[in-house]
This record gives sequence, C-alpha cells and structure tokens, in this order.
Amino acid sequence: MKAELFEVIIRHLSEYGMVHGPFDPLWTRVVIEKPFGRDLESALALNRACLNYLNESQIYRIDHYLGKETVQNILSFRFANAIFEPIFNHRYVDHIQITAAETVGMESGRGAFYDETGALRDMVQNHLMQLLCLVTMEPPSRMTADAIRNEKVKVLQSVVPVSPGCVDGVAVRAQYVGGEVAGKAVPGYRQEERIQPESSTPTYVAMRVDIENWRWKGVPIYLRTGKRLRRRVTEITVQFKIPPLQLFQTVECVGDMCDLTGAKPNRLIFRIQPEEGISLRFSAKRPALQVLVEDVVMDFLYSGQWPGALPEAYERLLLDAIRGDSTLFTRSDEVEAQWRVVQPVLRAWEGLDDCAPVAFYPAGSWGPSEAASIFANYDTDWHNPEA
Ligand code: BG6
Repeated sequence: MKAELFEVIIRHLSEYGMVHGPFDPLWTRVVIEKPFGRDLESALALNRACLNYLNESQIYRIDHYLGKETVQNILSFRFANAIFEPIFNHRYVDHIQITAAETVGMESGRGAFYDETGALRDMVQNHLMQLLCLVTMEPPSRMTADAIRNEKVKVLQSVVPVSPGCVDGVAVRAQYVGGEVAGKAVPGYRQEERIQPESSTPTYVAMRVDIENWRWKGVPIYLRTGKRLRRRVTEITVQFKIPPLQLFQTVECVGDMCDLTGAKPNRLIFRIQPEEGISLRFSAKRPALQVLVEDVVMDFLYSGQWPGALPEAYERLLLDAIRGDSTLFTRSDEVEAQWRVVQPVLRAWEGLDDCAPVAFYPAGSWGPSEAASIFANYDTDWHNPEA
C-alpha cells in the first residue's frame, strides 16, 4: 500500500461519517496487507501517514508468514529448549540458507501486480526477512509484542549494508522461461497473462546477507526465492561446521552406488512448508566390519505428532488483530529496517543501467546457475530438497 492510498481511504471514511476526529485507540484497529510501500521512501511516507491518524498499537501490518505455525515454532524451538541455543553462533554454525521455492507462476490474474513488484519486494523484503530475524535474533526479555519486535529490529540493524554498485557477488536476479513443472508444460514469464513482453521483473532472487554482531559475525546467510521452481518448499537450513579432527571415513550413497567422501556437516532444517517439521542430519556408524560413518536424519513431523490440518495463517492473524495482540505483526521501525536491507539491491537493479542483468532459468528447475555466484570463495552450494 502507498501513503496516498491510505489518505484516500481515510478521506472516504470521513465523507461517509465513519471517522470523527482522531481514531479511538481502544476500538479502532487498521490491518494493512503487504507490500508495505514500494521502497524505503514510500514505506517511510506510509508510516508517517498512518501515524498521523493512529497510534502504533492500532496498526497491524500483516506478513502472513508470521501466522504460520511452523514459523512461530522457530522461537519455541530455539528458546524453549536448552540444547541448541548454545551452539547457534559463529563458533559452531558455518552458514544458514533460507529457501522459499514456489511452483506457481502468474495464475489467477496476478501478472499485473507482480510485474510491478517482482520477487525482491514480494518475498525477500518481508517473508524472508522475517524468517532471517526469527532464526538469528537474540532471546527476547519476555514473550511480549514489543520485546520480540525489539530483538528483530536489533538484528536487522546489524545487517552489513550492501555497498552501492552492481551488487555482484551479493545478489542475483532471474526470470523463468518456459519449461515443465510437475510433468506439465508451462509458459515463460514474459508469455504469461498481463506481463510486459520485454519485462525485466525478477521472478527469482538469491541474496547473501551478513550480520555483524557478537553472535553471527562471519556466518553468511543465503536467501533465495523463486516462482516456477522444481518443488514448493520453504525451509531454513542451519549448517554446522565440520568437526576439527576427521577420524572417520564417510560413506555417501546415491541409489546403489556408494563412495567414500570427506566428513559431512551436520544440518538442522526447519521445514516451514509443506511436510512441516524439523530434521537433524548427523553421522552414524554404518553396520559393517569397518568403521565407516554415514549421514542419517532424525525427523520431527507435525503431522506425525499432531494429526489434522494446521490453522491457516490468516485465521490466526485476523483473530489476533481483533484481540489486539500485535506480536505477529510488523512494527513501523521493523518494516523500515527490512527495507534498508534490500534497498541497495533495488537501487542497483532499478537505478543503474547495464548493471546486474537478469539471468534466466527454465521453469521446473532450481533456478539459474548464476545463483551460485554468491558463494564465490566459499565451499558450498544450494541445498535442494528432493524428497
Ligand atoms: C505472498 C506473495 O505474500 O506470498 C505471493 O505475494 C506468494 O507471490 C505467497 O506466492 C506465498 O505464500 P505461501 O503461504 O504460499 O508460501
């Protein structure tokens, strides 16, 4: 939403006699759906316009990812248990990957909106930033809306600003061309309904974020999101460092073929959707006369523990807004801090000519090969969940 639109809505409400003077702080709540502004300047203007009429406590900025059970579970997992939090830091964690992969394209006439928006504004500035906050923030002093949001703002403010320029090695943008998703042929982005034939709007973004604080300095965080990818999956992978001394040989098997390789790092995976749960990958002795280890997985699945559908994110969020609980909504300084992280990338892509051209990837793939460029000088690659 833009500030001008907010003003128009307020004017109309006044004309119909629905607004008399300042809003009553006890009864009036305004819920605003994302995207909140188009960039930092417009988000600042929209916050100013809202705060002209309302108190911060009356504004409910929706990011529906916060309403997802498994997103809320990230904080419970981290802070209701004693075993993982002590190793959630630069001494033990090698890097973090956050993936929000979608198989959908421009169905349901979304093309016109999306072509103006693109993946950075549509997914990275909000949903991926929230996932990043929840997995990296410090424990809040209490489970209150402001205590949690204070910690999220702190971690966003610790993100190292991307240097002005072409953002090479930091961010990659791409667009899908025709391909096949789940056995069905699908058109390329530029052939979709209501998309400009020459559009350079990214449908895929990969970006590296560095947090400069006591806990996370030196641990890169890699984000990626895209439409028309191989599988629908949203997950956060925390990859740990390999043990300092490699005493064992590791067996790696693909189908019937097994090979001996170097040690595999442990990974903790928060699966947000689908097959919601948490997995821990670790090495275990393979039954044999030799001492060889193999990668195994310990899984916690929501559906196994609590059968039945999980509540819809919007059900929870609308109920919370009615009850006046703003824990799962973004505060004005939080939304502005999120924009500050992505703004240099937006500026480079939209403001500089011949800078960071759009790459292409076939629909049904895991994205463009160029996305690996953000791992330059770093011995890793994207973890693509196949199962
Ligand atoms: C919305 C985006 O906020 O989130 C859509 O505008 C995207 O483009 C959707 O498809 C993804 O939500 P979910 O809940 O399906 O992961």
